[in-house]
Amino acid sequence: MIPQSFIQDLLNRVDIVDVVGKYVQLKKGGANFMGLCPFHNEKSPSFTVSPTKQFYHCFGCGAHGSAIGFLMEYSGQSYPDAVRELAQSVGMTVPEERDRLPPAQRAEQQARSLALTDAMTRATEFYRRQLRGAQQAIQYLKGRGLTGEIAAQFGLGYAPDDWQGLEAVFGSYRDDALAGPLVEAGLLIENAERRDADGKPRRYDRFRDRIMFPIRNTKGQVIGFGGRVLGQGEPKYLNSPETPLFSKGTELYGLFEARHAIRETGYVLVVEGYMDVVALAQLGFANAVATLGTACTAVHVQKLLRQTDAVVFSFDGDSAGRRAARRALEACLPHVADNKTIRFLFLPSEHDPDSYVREEGTEAFAAQVRDAMPLSRFLLQVVTEEQDLRQPEGRARAQYEARPLLQAMPAGGLRLQIVRELAEATGTTPAEIEAVCGLRSDPARAGRFAQPRPRAKRQAPTGLEQRLLQLLMGYPHFAARLDEDSRALLLDAEQPQAEVLAHLLEACGEVQGEVNFAAFSEQLAQSPYAEIYANVRTAVLREEIEEEPAGLEFDAAVTKLLAEPLRRELDGLETAVTNGVADEAAKARMRWLVGEINRRRRLG
Ligand code: UTP
Ligand code: MN
Repeated sequence: MIPQSFIQDLLNRVDIVDVVGKYVQLKKGGANFMGLCPFHNEKSPSFTVSPTKQFYHCFGCGAHGSAIGFLMEYSGQSYPDAVRELAQSVGMTVPEERDRLPPAQRAEQQARSLALTDAMTRATEFYRRQLRGAQQAIQYLKGRGLTGEIAAQFGLGYAPDDWQGLEAVFGSYRDDALAGPLVEAGLLIENAERRDADGKPRRYDRFRDRIMFPIRNTKGQVIGFGGRVLGQGEPKYLNSPETPLFSKGTELYGLFEARHAIRETGYVLVVEGYMDVVALAQLGFANAVATLGTACTAVHVQKLLRQTDAVVFSFDGDSAGRRAARRALEACLPHVADNKTIRFLFLPSEHDPDSYVREEGTEAFAAQVRDAMPLSRFLLQVVTEEQDLRQPEGRARAQYEARPLLQAMPAGGLRLQIVRELAEATGTTPAEIEAVCGLRSDPARAGRFAQPRPRAKRQAPTGLEQRLLQLLMGYPHFAARLDEDSRALLLDAEQPQAEVLAHLLEACGEVQGEVNFAAFSEQLAQSPYAEIYANVRTAVLREEIEEEPAGLEFDAAVTKLLAEPLRRELDGLETAVTNGVADEAAKARMRWLVGEINRRRRLG
């Protein structure tokens, strides 16, 4: 379970218009955006996206939901996957599920992950010992210019050319209890198709005859390996699979080893390869880390910015390098801040950092770092590079390309500066850029209840309780309009929907000012009353009622609803008085009831 509070934060951070806009061409129509529904075939648009409610709704097929629901529906992702993707797009990290497990399960998971860590540690030791006796491997590393010290510092090892090499450390792979963690850790490959005579699946070493680069987490524990062939061969690098310990999208090679140097130099260098990290460390840049054969993610960037305020990415000068740089740029945008610097350096196309620093020397590489291109320059280059800015079309296109990038940035000084420069480059004003690119100057407004336009027609409520639910769902703070007495009476168990109303009122009470409709209804959907809420939500989406009339209607509905129980209680007390069994408290209550009924009658 992902905690609701996280879902709330997430839905407050993303804008459904951007999310849907990636897949559906949307046009502004009044307060909402309209487009052709992606969930059914249609020729004229009946699909609407409401920025104020942060909800989409198709009047044609009835599909509706939040940004999370849209991703699930559109790309067939599971709920957690959709949440993860959205979170990543805004640079948030989904809290680990194991943090939320009940204690017993948590202990079991901890034991399992301990077994994995232990397996990795022992394997690392084994590979290291193997390297000492492996002349060929030592020659290879020497041939690439590495010293023994640097190899030791990074814990480099050698996996022998053997299908059961690790048995020397762990014992027979036929023992399921021993082999289980090794398979889960990705050290062994299990082939269920091919079994031994006694029915055990074949198990063999994943890494054979390779130089082993241990990958450590920030605590220094080995969580995975990269293994390089000696010389030619495919694949050049073999990496650990994704395991409970190891995820390529969040881990960086060398971060543990580089942490002191990052602090001392005040910046981190991000490169593409294992060898680059090791070579740079040997030649004076101990602050280098590498992504693991994958694109740089927003999570990577977030992780780095936790350690330092300055990041310098190094890419090859070729087109693959430019593409990787562009991906890194996108990963950085959600995290830019005016007290952080992110820069990009492009090496001559025939080089990677390893070859460059060896051929051109430390000084030359240091100069490259000094001259690295600031993020703002790179962004402007990316959006303008293929456009002819002498033509209106080219200038418009540049703005169009800039739109998603600017939207991914938090509002702040840097975005403003980039907007200024883009305005200059495309012959417009910053305000026009902000309008064209749909930039909100006040990010807090993004998630707030806005005032939808009034509409003449109103859906007839299907009952007062139902109506109350609708109004509350649309305007959770109306819960505060109820005084203690009204609340108690409303929640009297004899009221048909007392239980769900009680739940909704409580949920409303927890809503802090900024929670938006999508986030709120997503939260309600996780409750036992999900089905009731789904109907309520559909009604709320169909209607647009302004806050003031909604408030008046809410009060009136409460009054009408309470008239009955108040009346009933008064009747009961009157009978008691007639029978001479009413005490002073009962009489006081009667007087209050009479007053209350009259007061409510006047209001209603
Ligand atoms: P490169 O092919 O640029 O290799 O891959 P490299 O780092 O320069 O390696 P050397 O210098 O030839 O030894 C860059 C990174 O991409 C990942 C690895 O993380 C590698 O360091 N990669 C590459 C793989 O995961 N698998 C491969 O087969 C190749
Ligand atoms: Mn290389």
